[in-house]
Amino acid sequence: MTRLKTPDLLRSARWFAADDLRSFGHRSRLRQMGYAPEDWAGRPVIAILNTWSDFNSCHAHFRDRVEDIKRGVLQAGGFPLEVPVHSVSETFLKPSSMLYRNMLAMEVEEVIRAHPVDGAVLMGGCDKSTPALLMGATSAGVPAIYVPAGPMLRGNWNGKTLGSGSDAWKFWDERRAGNIGEAEWNEIEGGIARSYGHCMTMGTASTMTAIAEALGMTLAGASSVPAADAGHMRMCAASGRRIVDMVWEDLTPARIQTRAAFENAIIVAMAMGCSTNAIIHLIAQARRAGCDITLDDFDAASRRVPVLANVRPSGDAYLMEDFYFAGGLPALMGRLTDFLHLDALTVSGRTVGEAIAGAKVHNDDVIRPLDKAIYDEGALAVLRGNLAPEGCVIKPSACAPHLRVHTGPALVFDDYPSLKAATDDENLDVTPGHVLVLRNAGPLGGPGMPEWGMLPIPKALVKAGVRDMLRISDARMSGTSYGACILHVSPESHVGGPLALLRTGDLVTVDVPNRRIDMEVPAEELERRRAALPAPVPRYERGYGWMYSKHISQAHLGCDFDFLETSFGAAPGEPAI
Ligand code: FES
Ligand code: MG
Repeated sequence: MTRLKTPDLLRSARWFAADDLRSFGHRSRLRQMGYAPEDWAGRPVIAILNTWSDFNSCHAHFRDRVEDIKRGVLQAGGFPLEVPVHSVSETFLKPSSMLYRNMLAMEVEEVIRAHPVDGAVLMGGCDKSTPALLMGATSAGVPAIYVPAGPMLRGNWNGKTLGSGSDAWKFWDERRAGNIGEAEWNEIEGGIARSYGHCMTMGTASTMTAIAEALGMTLAGASSVPAADAGHMRMCAASGRRIVDMVWEDLTPARIQTRAAFENAIIVAMAMGCSTNAIIHLIAQARRAGCDITLDDFDAASRRVPVLANVRPSGDAYLMEDFYFAGGLPALMGRLTDFLHLDALTVSGRTVGEAIAGAKVHNDDVIRPLDKAIYDEGALAVLRGNLAPEGCVIKPSACAPHLRVHTGPALVFDDYPSLKAATDDENLDVTPGHVLVLRNAGPLGGPGMPEWGMLPIPKALVKAGVRDMLRISDARMSGTSYGACILHVSPESHVGGPLALLRTGDLVTVDVPNRRIDMEVPAEELERRRAALPAPVPRYERGYGWMYSKHISQAHLGCDFDFLETSFGAAPGEPAI
C-alpha cells in the first residue's frame, strides 16, 4: 500500500491532537465513554453509518453486523464509532421511500463532514439506502467503503420457491382471479420473507448493491453474499479492516468513481437484468461524482450487453442465493471482460481486473455464457416521442414479446385510487389491446414517484386469462415487478409534460425496437389541450415535502435536489475551529 497520510494529517487530529481548550473538550468526552488515548491517538476514526431500524426488516441484522465491522477496524488499528442514520425502509415508508432518498444522502454528507471522521463504512441494502449512502459519501469526499446487507434466504411455500415482490404480484393476480383462497394467501404471507436481508429477487436492492460493487465501492464479491451466511460476517470484518488502510492511502470516492467506473456499473446492471430504478439512481450518483451519465448511455449499453443473470423477474427460475452459489458477481463480471474497463480502481486498492481474476462460474444455467443469454439485448430500453420528449423507460426482458410493438386506445386515469376502483370493476369497458395510463405519479405529482408503475390489469381481463398489457405512467415500479410497463415518463404530467394532454380513446403507439412512444394526436389539438390545462396544485405547503417540491429534478436527471448537485457550487471547506 502507498501510505499518503501520517497521523498528524488525519482529519480527526484536528479534533483530538491539539493542546488547546477545544481539543481538551473533545478528548474529555471520549473519556466519558470509557475510551483512553490508546483508543484514539494516531488512529483513523472510522464512522460506521448504520441504517438499522426496527422499521427496516431488510437491515434487522445490522446491530450484530456492526460488531463484526468494529472487530475489523480494531484489528487494522482504527477507532470505530457507530453512527445511526435514517433507514429509508422500502416496506413501510409512505407515500414512497424515493421521497426520502435525498434526505438520507444529505444526512450522510453532513454527518461525515461535521464529525471527526477519517473514513466511513456505509451499511445499507434496502433499495434507496444504497444510492443515498453512496451519494452522500461521494459529496463528503472522505474514504468510504460500502457494506451491503446481503439478500435474504429464498422464500418457500409448500415446497415451492417464492421470490420477494415478484411472487406476491403473481399470486395476488391468482387470488383476484379466484384461483387462490384466504388460507393459501396467509401461508404465502408467512413464507415469502424467511430471514433478514434485502429482497432476493433481482429487484432494486440486488441491482443497486451489485452496482456498488461494479463501481468498485465494495470488496469483491460482497454484494452476493446472503445476509444469513457466515461469510457475510467475514465480509463485514474484512471491510472494517480495509477502510483503515484506505484512510492511510487516501483512497477517496473521487479516485474510484470515475466515468469508467460508472460505465462498468451500467454494463453490469444490464447483464444482471436490472431494476428500472437503477437508471434514476445511477444518474444521480454519477452527477454527484461529476460524471455526466445520461439515459442514452443506458440505451447504448442495453443494445450491446446481453442479460446473463437468470434471476427473477427477468430470469425464470433462480434467486440471489443461487446466484451466490453460482459464483456471484465476480463470476458474472468475469464473463463481461470484453465490455468492462478492467483498469478501474476499487476500494481494495486493486483494479477491477485484479479483483475478479480467477472468479469462476459454477452453474451455467444461473450465470449464462454470452452465447446462451436470457435475452440478447440488455435489460432496459429508453423510448422517446411526443409522449415523452425527455425519455421514458421499459424493461423489455420482463414483458410479453407481442407488446413490444403495439398500437391501442388509451384508458387514462388521473390518480391511483380511481385507477384501482376502475380496474377492480368487472364491468369495465376494456380489451387486452387497450393502453392503461396513470399520471400525476412522478417526482412532484406522486409525490416521490411511487412504485405504482405496474398498473393492475383490470379484473375482468385477469379472469379471462390476460397476464400482461401495455401500461404507461410517470411513476416508477418495483424492481421485482414485471410486464409491459413504460415508466419514468419525463417531463412528468404534474408539471405539464405531454402525458397531461393525453385523453381516453387517443391512440398510443409504442415501438421498442425503434425506441418510440407517441400519441396519435395532431399538434394543433395538443396545443389547444395545453392551453386548457389547469395550474398544478402544490402537494406540500411546509416541511421537508415543501423543500423537496422546490428542488427535485425530473427523472431523466436522477431526481436529486438541485442544490446538492456537484455543479451547484463550491464544496464547503473544513470546519474552521
Ligand atoms: Fe428492503 Fe425489498 S423491501 S429490499
Ligand atoms: Mg423494491
